[in-house]
Amino acid sequence: AETERLKMVEAHELSAKWYHYLLMNTTHGAEALRYLRERGVSDKLIDQFMIGYAPPQWDTLARFLTARQFDPSLLERAGLLSAKNDGSGYVDRFRSRIMFPIRDRDGKATAFAGRVIGEGQPKYLNSPETKLFAKSRTLYNLHQARPSIRKTKQVVLFEGYMDVIKAWYAGIHNGVATMGTALTDEHCQVLARQANEVIVCYDGDDAGQSAALKSIAMLEKAGLKVMVSMLPKGKDPDEYIGEYGPEAFVREAIGQPVSATKFKLIYSRKNHILLTEEGRKNYLLEAVRIVAELDSSIEREVYLQELSREFDIDLQTLKQDSFQMREELQ
Ligand code: GTP
Ligand code: MN
Ligand code: MN
Ligand code: MN
Ligand code: MN
Repeated sequence: AETERLKMVEAHELSAKWYHYLLMNTTHGAEALRYLRERGVSDKLIDQFMIGYAPPQWDTLARFLTARQFDPSLLERAGLLSAKNDGSGYVDRFRSRIMFPIRDRDGKATAFAGRVIGEGQPKYLNSPETKLFAKSRTLYNLHQARPSIRKTKQVVLFEGYMDVIKAWYAGIHNGVATMGTALTDEHCQVLARQANEVIVCYDGDDAGQSAALKSIAMLEKAGLKVMVSMLPKGKDPDEYIGEYGPEAFVREAIGQPVSATKFKLIYSRKNHILLTEEGRKNYLLEAVRIVAELDSSIEREVYLQELSREFDIDLQTLKQDSFQMREELQ
């Protein structure tokens, strides 16, 4: 079983190098290369993340690897090939896609994410769950980010591969992403072992913001301090960098995160209509409940003072309610 794992890793390493070679050196790869450059991915970044290209033919990888004595059924179990329906052999799992090798925390290639060039469905195709690869435990770029995470005790959590890559270009070397799936407790434990603080930097759309809310709760449960970088409406980090440049991203987005509490208050506020008395009251109740969850009484007081000023409600009243909600939380 151990030798099977080693073989599978070896196959992924070889495939990653080969896909990278095809991207950089063939006419088929030229379109993919142009697409990447148009998106602001430089050759240096392509090298750093060993980005590649899977050509459109049915069995390019199958032939490449079987010529090197790999057993096709092992390659199928590794998620690189798919068995044909009629049982007559195997075809490549990834075709006509830009290939992002996914590595384990030691840097060994264990899976791929393949993106269509331009529009198309599915936008990203991932390797299936295998002996080598579990989405619920894997964080994209953790191996390269680890030195920086350990040094700063801080990690930046993104939604997408492209966000991690563009952030790297901007000098953010402690960025990781989940595999397009929700954050799990296992991910949080991995992060908590390396860092004290997480900056959540999800897409600035509704999906991203509601995912951030869920991730915050899980990260806090794992004992991490959580901050949130809020991007302008609808933008993701990759688009932000494309539009405003890497310096602005570092300065404005990563450099000025809000506290998890502030983020929850802003989020809750957006879901209430503050023009009506009912809406204001409901927002205040929710806001006080959010604040009541804070362990520090100084922090609680700071937020309650803000609410008291803004809504012209006696601070003592807010403190009483917050106190009561804390009692209920115990
Ligand atoms: P780009 O368009 O290349 O910039 O991707 P993105 O990261 O901005 O995509 P999006 O915000 O739509 O999705 C965030 C992440 O979810 C992606 O990086 C993927 O990991 C994942 N994802 C998006 N679309 C798909 C899909 O069709 N299939 C799968 N399996 N994952 C997806
Ligand atoms: Mn290269
Ligand atoms: Mn999105
Ligand atoms: Mn996105
Ligand atoms: Mn994007």
